Amino acid sequence: MIQFDAKTRTFYLQTPKTSYIFQVYREDVLLGLYYGKRIAPQDVSFFYQNVERGFSPMMAGYDMEHPLSLDTMTLEYPTFGLSDTRAPAFHAVYPDGSRITDLRYSTHRILKGKPICKGLPQLLAQTEDAETLEVVLKDKRGLVEVTLRYTVYSDMDVISRSVSVKSTAKDPISLQKVASLNLDLPECDFDLLQLHGAWGRERNLEVTHLTHASHVIESRRGASSHQSCPFLALKRPDAGEDWGDVYGFTFIYSGNFAIQADVDQYDMTRLQVGINPFDFSWKLEPGDTFEAPEALMVFSDEGLGGMSRNFHHACRHHLGKSKYRDQKKPIILNSWEAAYFDFDEARIIGIIESAKDLGIDIFVMDDGWFGARNSDKTSLGDWTVNSAKLPGGLKPVIDACHKNGMKFGIWFEPEMVSPDSDLYRAHPDWCLHVPGVDHCTSRNQLILDLSRADVVDYLEQTVGDILAQNDIAYVKWDMNRNMTNVGSVAFEPERQGEIRHRYMLGLYDLMERLTTRFPDVLFEGCSGGGGRLDFGILYYMPQFWTSDDSDAIARLKIQYGTSMFVPASAMVGHVSACPNHQIGRTTPLKTRADVASFCNFGYELDPARFSAEEREAVKAQIERQRRMEPLVLDGDFYRLRNPFTGNDAAWMLVSPDKSEAVALFVQVLAVANAPFTRLRLRGLDPDATYQIEELGFSAGGDALMHGGIPIEARPGDFRSVTFTLRRI
Ligand code: GLA
Repeated sequence: MIQFDAKTRTFYLQTPKTSYIFQVYREDVLLGLYYGKRIAPQDVSFFYQNVERGFSPMMAGYDMEHPLSLDTMTLEYPTFGLSDTRAPAFHAVYPDGSRITDLRYSTHRILKGKPICKGLPQLLAQTEDAETLEVVLKDKRGLVEVTLRYTVYSDMDVISRSVSVKSTAKDPISLQKVASLNLDLPECDFDLLQLHGAWGRERNLEVTHLTHASHVIESRRGASSHQSCPFLALKRPDAGEDWGDVYGFTFIYSGNFAIQADVDQYDMTRLQVGINPFDFSWKLEPGDTFEAPEALMVFSDEGLGGMSRNFHHACRHHLGKSKYRDQKKPIILNSWEAAYFDFDEARIIGIIESAKDLGIDIFVMDDGWFGARNSDKTSLGDWTVNSAKLPGGLKPVIDACHKNGMKFGIWFEPEMVSPDSDLYRAHPDWCLHVPGVDHCTSRNQLILDLSRADVVDYLEQTVGDILAQNDIAYVKWDMNRNMTNVGSVAFEPERQGEIRHRYMLGLYDLMERLTTRFPDVLFEGCSGGGGRLDFGILYYMPQFWTSDDSDAIARLKIQYGTSMFVPASAMVGHVSACPNHQIGRTTPLKTRADVASFCNFGYELDPARFSAEEREAVKAQIERQRRMEPLVLDGDFYRLRNPFTGNDAAWMLVSPDKSEAVALFVQVLAVANAPFTRLRLRGLDPDATYQIEELGFSAGGDALMHGGIPIEARPGDFRSVTFTLRRI
């Protein structure tokens, strides 16, 4: 998978369908040569044209007759201050106040498997499934040593990359920027696809053509956020969903990030992924090492769909250790939209009893069960049972779950503290803050300072106690505000630029400790819906509440956009009551279930309000979901109709052996005298025949993919139809 040609000093990284090639060039500079469709290892140094260009500075020792300028090269890991004037991947301030870094190739090694980087989320691989290349670069002045790490995998076209920086200076240095990935491409005719959003409407597709400028997708909010998303794709303008060249990038990190695409004067594109350098600095003591989190890149010539399926594969098979990553997920009933804060023991047990015999696996008691929490104004941080609401503690509720054939799950928001809480009164300095500066609250709450080890210890203990003392099968881990007032009284002034990243390290430590201590608990991530849905959290918690907007039609766009890099197995979708609580829309129960069924499935309502007919429909939905679960867990996802561009949405899941598939088609608004339309399926075996359950006939995979299924026009808005296919 990884080869080094000592004669040409060229590295060849081969995945099943892609090649990544770079070279140690002349003055020991790393020159990027190729990333794209797989080519045989060969000398491709002719790709690089060394020509003299006005205003591009020469490297020392070169001149206009014998030119060499970093400014005109596709570089592997550019630094600041010498002959490359574009955005550096690395920027540091040295003890003498200088800011110039001159990294040159020193050594490299190729390892079987993938070394674990402690304390950070990352892809994991068995020794026989992966190979890792480590290239050590040394600064010419001897101030810093940078190791570039690349891992390739035998089962997917994903390359993971990370960077570690060791100080070899005699006094502390200050890191200002350490990109985890730099990719210089020799062209710029790309469309940039990104996912923007807001609370309740996460991950909208937006496509712009790259221009001669800097395009930065970033978060400054202390979380990957609803607003932006650590994902970006560069596609050739003629590339579509099923064909054409696409590069995709994501970052295994949950805090401030930046993904930047810059086009330069010679039409080359520089792509970088890393911790957002905005308001970041890191003091590195002599001999210490800083680890930049892992970034992933994919190339696919099978369009956006091919790119997405590679990310999905990485998430499903290589991200995290939770046993639930590889298991069918339970069907959940969540109390939030059924009762909000307004419940007591009788009401909660009433909801549980009304769910009896529906087929639900876990009942989840959401917010409101702890401290004196009767609204969002109080008690975050006081993780003891609200005795006014639940005088008997959790036990009677858990017993009621067991009696009615369900397990019990619970909601926490461990990272937060309410100013009105015993925790805040006891430890006012435990929140992120700068002394003397007014607090900004959001949803009436402050953020605990997880850069502090004592805070992380406290949370491990208090959350851990509840989990240890009760029979709890599931935890919903919420996070309902973004960072302001970032500062920590536990760190000296010159380390204040580290607090956001130290917070993430503390959070990952806490998640690692709790998920390791309670391996049987299924942890679900949440942040006001999908406000921190990234591969960082998914490493610890294999599923995420995709959005607080549970309306089935709004979810079409949200799930479609999210599927760009997140698999169905990591999304959570629930059927909620109508009119929908977020937007007031009424949709058919079938449509609500059909849309949610392409996620880890559940309900978010009070089953006592079901009519007898609805109860039967819900039982049937749950039975159907049991059959779909293997596809949600492990199916390949194909997007068929884009809800951002039309009046309908469609997608499908196909089992890895192509023997089963389920497709969904939703028409948003009804159309009078509707035109004919056919849904062309994807991913089937063209030589196989499939029985289509809903239509009662069979057809060839080739006919279904190239001819398609005629969609019957139906009256009424928001109609869904599914097609369940079985190879015969
Ligand atoms: C967030 C979550 C919701 C619910 C509430 C509880 O908004 O996204 O699902 O848990 O918090 O306060």
